[in-house]
Amino acid sequence: TAESGTCPYETGNAGELHQTPGDAPTLTTAQGVPVADDQNTLRGGERGPALMEDFHFREKIFHFDHERIPERVVHARGYGAHGYFECTEAIPELTSASLFQEAGSKVPAFVRFSTVAGNKGSFDLARDVRGFAVKLYTEEGNWDLVGNNIPVFFIQDPIKFPDLIHSVKAEPDRGFPQAQSAHDNFWDFISLMPESMHMVMWTMSDRAIPRSFRFMEGFGVHTFRLVNAEGKSHFVKFHWKPKLGLQSVVWDEAVKINGADPDFHRRDLWDAIRNGDFPEWELGVQIFDDAFADKFDFDVLDATKLIPEEDCPVRIIGRLVLDRTVDNFFAETEQVAFCTQNIVPGIDFTNDPLLQGRNFSYLDTQTKRLGGPNFTHIPINAPKCPMHHFQQDGHMAMHNPTGRANYEPNSWSKGGPRADPRRGFKSYPEELEGTKRRLRPESFADHYSQARQFYISQTKVEQDHIANGLTFELSKCVVEDIRLRVLSHLQLIDGDLAQKVADGLGHDLPEPATPARAPVDLKPSDKLSILKNGP
Ligand code: HEM
Repeated sequence: TAESGTCPYETGNAGELHQTPGDAPTLTTAQGVPVADDQNTLRGGERGPALMEDFHFREKIFHFDHERIPERVVHARGYGAHGYFECTEAIPELTSASLFQEAGSKVPAFVRFSTVAGNKGSFDLARDVRGFAVKLYTEEGNWDLVGNNIPVFFIQDPIKFPDLIHSVKAEPDRGFPQAQSAHDNFWDFISLMPESMHMVMWTMSDRAIPRSFRFMEGFGVHTFRLVNAEGKSHFVKFHWKPKLGLQSVVWDEAVKINGADPDFHRRDLWDAIRNGDFPEWELGVQIFDDAFADKFDFDVLDATKLIPEEDCPVRIIGRLVLDRTVDNFFAETEQVAFCTQNIVPGIDFTNDPLLQGRNFSYLDTQTKRLGGPNFTHIPINAPKCPMHHFQQDGHMAMHNPTGRANYEPNSWSKGGPRADPRRGFKSYPEELEGTKRRLRPESFADHYSQARQFYISQTKVEQDHIANGLTFELSKCVVEDIRLRVLSHLQLIDGDLAQKVADGLGHDLPEPATPARAPVDLKPSDKLSILKNGP
C-alpha cells in the first residue's frame, strides 16, 4: 500500500488502493452487509482454491450472470426520454379524456423511439420503420399511443404479423442478413402480400432513413374513437408533427453514418436534451364520423390506408416536449412496456383487426420479457395516479392488497375499492351483427391506389430516391422470380417507377399483377400534401 510502499496486487490488499476518497458510502452486498474487500475472492491458503463460503463473490457473480432479459421480439433497439404533454386546445365536446379537458394542463410523458427489425445491438440508420411509442401518465390511468413514423402498416390482419417479422429478421439457417429489407425472404413475402405495397413505398422513401428522431412524424396508424361525456363517439387518427420539420439523410450518408457511429440517433437525442434543445411535437387529430367513413373510398378500419389531410384536416390540440434524459437506460428505456390496450376513459378502440390483434400481443410478450405479471410495479410503467385493485402475488409482487379483503363484492366496512359507473371506463356500445367468418371484407381489397397516391405526391428527387431504394434492395435478391413479382406490382403503382427499377435491375418488365380490385383512377390533383423533406 501507499504506506508500506509495496504494490497492492502483490500483497493482496488492492481494496485499499481502490477505495474512493472522501465520504463515499460503504459498498455493501445486496443484503446490505458492508464489504471490506471487493478485489480478492476468499481462498484457502496463499495459492489455494476459492472457498464456497465467499457469499459476496457468489452473490456478485450470480447477479451478473442474470443481467440479460430477452430483447423485444420487435423494436428491440430503441431510445427513450421523459417529457410532458400539454393540451393546447381543449376538446371536451369530443372526448371526456382528462388530459384534453383544459388548455394549458400538462401530464408527464415517456417516449421510446426504435427501429423495428434490427436486434438490440444493431445500428441506428438502418432502412426501417421507426417506432414512436408514447406513454402519457394521465389522471385516469396510463394512455399509450404506440405508433410509428409511417401512417400505414404492411398488413391488414394480425395473423400475418409473425410471418412479416420472420421474413424481415435474419434467415433461420444462416442468421443473416440483419438489415430490414435487403434480402430474399423479405421481398418474397412482400411480393406475395400485395396489401403491403403502400407501406413498401413509404419504407423505400426517405421516411425510412430519418436524420434524427427529432425530425420525424409519428402516427397512431389505426382509427381510434374519442367518446365524450354524453357517450357520443367520433373516429380519430392521431398525428405527431415535429416542430423542427421533417428531415432525412440519403442512403449513402446512412451507410457511412452506420459505420462511423451506429449510435447516431440515440446520441443526437441525448445531446439535444442535455444541451437544453428540447425536441417538440404537436399532437394533431383527424376527426370524422360514420358518414365520412361511409363515403371514403377505403375502409377506415384498414391499417394499410391513410386518410388524406385534404379530405380531413389535422387539428392541432397539444404539444409533446422531451426535456429529460433517463437516469438509467435499463430501468426506464428497456423496462418500459407500451401496450395498445392501455387506453383511458374518453378514448376507445375500433374494429380495426390489426389493432385488436396488437391488444393481445403486447401484454402477452411483456409478461415474458419482464418476467411475470407484475411489471406495472416497475416505476416507469406504474401509473402516476391513485390505483386500487385486488391483484396480488406472482413473481416480484411489490404492492399487494392490504387488510383482509382481496375480493369483491364483500361486506367488510373497509372492504377496499369498488367499481364506479359514473367515472369508470365504459366501452363504446357499438352495435354488432353478422356471422363468424375468416374472409376479408371487400372494402379492404384495393392495395395499389394509395401506394400510387403516395408516389405521385413525392418531389422528383424523392421519387428518384424511391426508385433507387427499390433497385438497390431488389438487386440483393438472388432469386429472379421474386424480383419479377415485385416489378409486376410496381406496374400497378406507377409505370415509370416500374420501368426505372426494371432498367436498374436489367430486367424486361413482366406482366402487371392482377389486382383483387382495380385501383382508383387518380388525377394529378389527388396529390397528398404530406410533410415534405426539408427544414
Ligand atoms: C413493439 C407486436 C403492429 C408499433 C411490439 C412488440 C410486439 C409487437 C410483440 C414488442 C413489445 C415489447 O416487448 O414491449 C405487434 C403486432 C402487430 C404490431 C402483433 C400487428 C398485428 C404494430 C403497428 C405499430 C407498432 C401497426 C405502429 C402503429 C410498435 C412499437 C413498438 C412495438 C412502436 C415498440 C414499443 C417500445 O418502444 O417499447 N409490437 N405490433 N406495432 N410495436 Fe408492434
